[in-house]
Amino acid sequence: MIKIRQMTIDDVQLGLRLTRQAGWNQTESDILRFLKLEPEGCFVAEHGGGAVGTTATCVFGSLAWIAMVLVDVDVRGKGIGTELLRYSLNYLDKRKVKTVRLDATSAGQPIYEKLGFTPEYQLARFEGIAPSGKRGALITKAAPAIYASIIEFDERMSGTNRGKMLSSLFEEFPDDIHVVRKEDKIEGFIMSRPGANAIQIGPCIATEDAGSVLLHDALAHCTAESVFIDIPVDNAKAVILAESNGLRIQRYFMRMYRGERIRDNIKAIWSSSGPEKG
Ligand SMILES: CC(C)(COP(=O)(O)OP(=O)(O)OC[C@H]1O[C@@H](n2cnc3c(N)ncnc32)[C@H](O)[C@@H]1OP(=O)(O)O)[C@@H](O)C(=O)NCCC(=O)NCCS
Repeated sequence: MIKIRQMTIDDVQLGLRLTRQAGWNQTESDILRFLKLEPEGCFVAEHGGGAVGTTATCVFGSLAWIAMVLVDVDVRGKGIGTELLRYSLNYLDKRKVKTVRLDATSAGQPIYEKLGFTPEYQLARFEGIAPSGKRGALITKAAPAIYASIIEFDERMSGTNRGKMLSSLFEEFPDDIHVVRKEDKIEGFIMSRPGANAIQIGPCIATEDAGSVLLHDALAHCTAESVFIDIPVDNAKAVILAESNGLRIQRYFMRMYRGERIRDNIKAIWSSSGPEKG
């Protein structure tokens, strides 16, 4: 029998165990952030007397993301992943969400398709050791006074007000938000945060000119460290930049949606926030 229940703070170790088992990059802070952003929308699956699966939703008004879909390798193929998804979708339907999005691994994609998700576009995870480089002259660290403008810029480019997630990242990593501005207008921003396997560079949302400057600068900031950057494959300039810096594709994700389609500006997505946040 499969039972789905709400996730609590006591389940953080379960989440960490499953992310490690799957080789994912999330840290304890990432899991705690899911619980903080959507305390009633993170779920655990129990089977055979133990907790064996997780999922997390994050509602941004009429749109929501689903992430952390993980089932213990010993009990896969028994319908637990599907049940977690159904439960999450039911929660989101009750919240009157019109669009649900997620970034699917190849293992997850068939389950999502059966539940009505449609593929939208592919993202490539680039990995490697960041090369040395010059820090960008046009770039400044973002002060709290411009956080609201960054959120507004992000919404214009991504079609979603991700303010609650970005605010949480700003609070946790205030030294790792960099921006390019022209006459006081935001042209782009980039963030990075520690991961279990590598520094996750992203989100980077920017105009064509600002994007390459920001990504170069972030790589220079991480010189000699392992980095992951998730880039839409259709953003050719970002892909070329990653390749010319010696980064290689580790895996692909398929961004999928269910319900009303949101059209984000792919050329402005130089790096996504990571598969768990869009
Ligand atoms: C993806 C993942 C969550 C799926 O979990 P799961 O519990 O194995 O998923 P399900 O059992 O619901 O479905 C998997 C398959 O088993 C089948 N299945 C469903 N119920 C079943 C049952 N009662 N008995 C046997 N098989 C069943 C499904 O039809 C599906 O088959 P398919 O390959 O034809 O699509 C799991 O593989 C996982 O944790 N992978 C690593 C992390 C990951 O990639 N997560 C997805 C992120 S997007």
